[in-house]
Amino acid sequence: QAPLAHANFTNMTTSSLLEEATFISKQFDVSKDQLIAISNEFIRLTDLGLKSDGMPMAMIPSFVTGVPNGTEKGTFLAVDLGGTNFRVCSIHLNGDGTFDLLQTKSVIPRSLMVGTSKELFSFLAKRVDEFIKTHLDEKFNEEGGHSDNEHIYKLGFTFSFPVNQTAINSGTLLRWTKGFDVADAVGKDVCRLLQDELDLLNLPVHVAALVNDTVGTLMSRSYSSPGEAATLVGVILGTGTNGAYAESLAAVDKLDQSVAALANKSIMVINTEWGSFDNDMKVLPTTSWDDAVDLDTPNPGYQMFEKRVSGMFLGEILRRILLELNEKGHLFSKASTPLTTAWSLDTSILSRVEADTTPDLVAVKSIVETDLGLPTTLVERQAIKVIVEGVGKRSALLAGAVVGGILVHTKACQSNPVVDIGVDGSVFEFYPGYEDLMREALKDVIGENEKKVRIVSQYLSVASSASLPADYQSRIVGRD
Ligand code: GLC
Repeated sequence: QAPLAHANFTNMTTSSLLEEATFISKQFDVSKDQLIAISNEFIRLTDLGLKSDGMPMAMIPSFVTGVPNGTEKGTFLAVDLGGTNFRVCSIHLNGDGTFDLLQTKSVIPRSLMVGTSKELFSFLAKRVDEFIKTHLDEKFNEEGGHSDNEHIYKLGFTFSFPVNQTAINSGTLLRWTKGFDVADAVGKDVCRLLQDELDLLNLPVHVAALVNDTVGTLMSRSYSSPGEAATLVGVILGTGTNGAYAESLAAVDKLDQSVAALANKSIMVINTEWGSFDNDMKVLPTTSWDDAVDLDTPNPGYQMFEKRVSGMFLGEILRRILLELNEKGHLFSKASTPLTTAWSLDTSILSRVEADTTPDLVAVKSIVETDLGLPTTLVERQAIKVIVEGVGKRSALLAGAVVGGILVHTKACQSNPVVDIGVDGSVFEFYPGYEDLMREALKDVIGENEKKVRIVSQYLSVASSASLPADYQSRIVGRD
């Protein structure tokens, strides 16, 4: 490792560091005109994606042709693979808009994200096995095996990657995103891969449905707000970002409308895969740090929207900026190992910095001490905050602009008094003021209609659900 040059350090005056930070932060500004151009381009690519397969913004039909209304009942298993964690849960729908959820989550070892499909899916099946033994199959321990197979659990598979869905319970993986790179799984049916591993363990589980997390978010919002408002959009702003919405079936030109499964149906939930919106970089803003982050991923040139918006990338953008300032000798009096290690900054650092409103930025002081192992001066902390604000604000404005694009495309605000948008994910959840910033962009795109839009966190509605026993609540420890 080359020693860091700190030659200029003594020349940096207090105000020049702040000026430099402000200059950097401004590179993340997005004007109203840009937001409108982004939303217009989004609408153009939406139309293209509905017409033909193989478009960069894939507009994937989910084969979900209706949304719940809260009266649904039953107990189901669900697993969720899509980011940092793998979750297994059982969910009991009470039929009155409420539900009980029992959830466990395990961190996915990094090696499995880039290994073989066999390794990854057998890991997942083992977690399901443990969950059933521990939480559902009381007889299991007594009898030394799954008792009877009388009860076949129906399992919903939330698989949050682009899949060419061919039916409600099958779909082939188009490509990986968010740092996953399990090459031999591409082109395979991910339901089959999971079912085969579950079968090898003799588990009484049938993979009954495959959904993207955005589709799941839209449906759970719809279940929890029966009769209140039309839930038309489900959004994830977490490790990755994406959105799904209810489209008129007739508008999905690329689907063969004559197939039996679609008879008498009027809507189809579409998974936009907006992470890949504008991979051509016609309208998206960029900076040298964005370009460097992109080159350091397994999929350069793809997911260009996601790489400017979602949690996995915001921490890395910030790390690169701070490292550059550090190497120039403008920030921090010494080097820091986390700062020189790619992908080492958790995106939560942005939320925690942004949340510090104390005059001395005492929280930022302890964050930098703990996460980067460095002492700071007040000016350094102010500089970090200014930069974080730029990176975070751009993320929220871009997210608002594409949500606006969907609302313009669907004319949802013209036909509904209230439009409900369910959102899940740690960026939305924990970044202070994120919704307000999204709304700024929404106003730029849809004007006064922004007032009709209700943005509801699905994370909070689950965690605060009165129907959840305290023991269950304690297991719900944050989403991706
Ligand atoms: C990535 C995936 C997408 C998912 C999103 C949020 O963009 O490609 O399928 O919905 O992350 O998890």
